Amino acid sequence: MTIAVEKPEHGSQVEDQNQISESKKLPQNGFAVPESNAFGQSFRDYDGSVRQNTVERCYQLNHINQTYDYVKRTREEYGKLNREEMSIWECIELLNSFVDESDPDLDEPQIEHLLQSAEAIRKDYPDEDWLHLTALIHDLGKVLFHSKFGELPQWAVVGDTFPVGCAFDESIVYHKYLKDNPDYKNPAYNTKLGIYSEGCGLENVLMSWGHDDYMYLVAKENGTTLPPAALFVIRYHSFYPLHKEDAYHYLLNEEDRQNLKWVKIFNQYDLYSKSKVRIDVEKVKPYYLSLIEKYFPSKLRW
Ligand SMILES: [Fe+2]
Ligand SMILES: [Fe+2]
Repeated sequence: MTIAVEKPEHGSQVEDQNQISESKKLPQNGFAVPESNAFGQSFRDYDGSVRQNTVERCYQLNHINQTYDYVKRTREEYGKLNREEMSIWECIELLNSFVDESDPDLDEPQIEHLLQSAEAIRKDYPDEDWLHLTALIHDLGKVLFHSKFGELPQWAVVGDTFPVGCAFDESIVYHKYLKDNPDYKNPAYNTKLGIYSEGCGLENVLMSWGHDDYMYLVAKENGTTLPPAALFVIRYHSFYPLHKEDAYHYLLNEEDRQNLKWVKIFNQYDLYSKSKVRIDVEKVKPYYLSLIEKYFPSKLRW
């Protein structure tokens, strides 16, 4: 059966081609952008992806179910951090058996993606050790898939994120499915600002629930000494409507605007390191263990 698929409204494919050429013009950090992903296709190509139907279905469920009430309830529940006690490295090992269904570019164990991102950013920003560790841990919130964490469905763990409690911006990928979200017709939530005020700061905005916000809560509540920019990158790295489409700027405060530049830098490595670059895990492990020790307690509550 052939399923006709509408192109995402803002044409991820076209814009990503532009983004790749832009990134290639970055000699100051020397990051060589690969031409293709693990499937030999261009990045974030939702239409041509071999996993297109799975990806689209995941977004459909995400967009229908991520209501303000759902997010508030789920965030409160997982914010208790009463499910597991483990170190950062133990979490990396736990995650290693998962593949992210929402991601059209990635078909490798998570540890490869984490270390590819971290090593690429380390090469270009050798002095920002906090950024190396941020790259290593940015996706650890995907443990939400695990049975110890209630085996949340894909739509509640991965995919691009967006604010709830105010109107859904048209730049959100597969925006058409948001019309089936009950909040779409709720007058309290469907105006430009909804329950928020201009410039209120992202800290006061509820984001669709997923691995970003969960890992932010884990890091913060366990008393990490990582700088605020690191927490911002972890919390908003899937917020493509902001860092790629430049939507929702009316919710930002001055601190958000400062931190946004780090998310944009980080995103190049998050996206383009998902390629066939192999990393010798045992060789780089001691360096990352030293960073974990510097910025985190030995055991964390999850
Ligand atoms: Fe992620
Ligand atoms: Fe990632």
